[in-house]
Amino acid sequence: MSGVFVVAHISDLHFDGSEYHRSRVEAVLRYINARADGIDALLITGDLVDRGTAAEYDDAFGTIHSPLPTLITIGNHDDREHYNDRFRQDPGRAHANSALTVNGVQLLLVDSSIPGRAPGYIDDADLDWLEAQLHDAEPGTPALIAFHHPPVDVHMPYMDTIRQTGEERLAELVDRYPNIVAFLCGHIHSAAVTTFAGRPLCIAPGVASTLNLPFEGSGVLNEGQPPGIAFHLIGDDNRIVTHFRAVIN
Ligand SMILES: [Fe+2]
Ligand SMILES: [Fe+2]
Repeated sequence: MSGVFVVAHISDLHFDGSEYHRSRVEAVLRYINARADGIDALLITGDLVDRGTAAEYDDAFGTIHSPLPTLITIGNHDDREHYNDRFRQDPGRAHANSALTVNGVQLLLVDSSIPGRAPGYIDDADLDWLEAQLHDAEPGTPALIAFHHPPVDVHMPYMDTIRQTGEERLAELVDRYPNIVAFLCGHIHSAAVTTFAGRPLCIAPGVASTLNLPFEGSGVLNEGQPPGIAFHLIGDDNRIVTHFRAVIN
């Protein structure tokens, strides 16, 4: 890697057939794609659609276009079979894991969804897959690990009940790979930054909506917040710096 590596990260698109949600996705993709020359990859961390129907995936597939290398994993609102059918031409229940090394940075997306359930869990087979990817990479390659559900509490009382569990197994793996630069996720519809297993955990804002913190309002939704993007920048020192953008659509 030389220079600054840039990942555009969006999450929680929630395609539901409405023009309202579609136009928010179009707005963030327009913003990203117009600047693609300065960006290395696009990551989408799940909840592509709202109810998991085939029609919603048709809508998503027809709208999500980018000249950038694009990696996607799924969330609790997704349906693995319908997602695979439309986005991977791979009908079936294969987990939405993907790995790609772009300009010297290893991007690893792991499926944390549990079919039919809202919380997240990375199963043993997927953890083994993740470790094999890390193990097989050129030593010292900076790695970003992304999934849908945060593996920590974020002080959003409901979301904390449906976060990723079993995270101690992931944390244990992290100790063996000092080249893991950061974790990236979505799910909480709130741009946020914390740490997990001693590494940064950067959470993308929701494209479809923003959820309230307890002191922000009694409703679930923070109405009026625009869709957003996280740009993760990695320099030659392998430190991540995340910049957030709201996009008025
Ligand atoms: Fe979501
Ligand atoms: Fe979610």
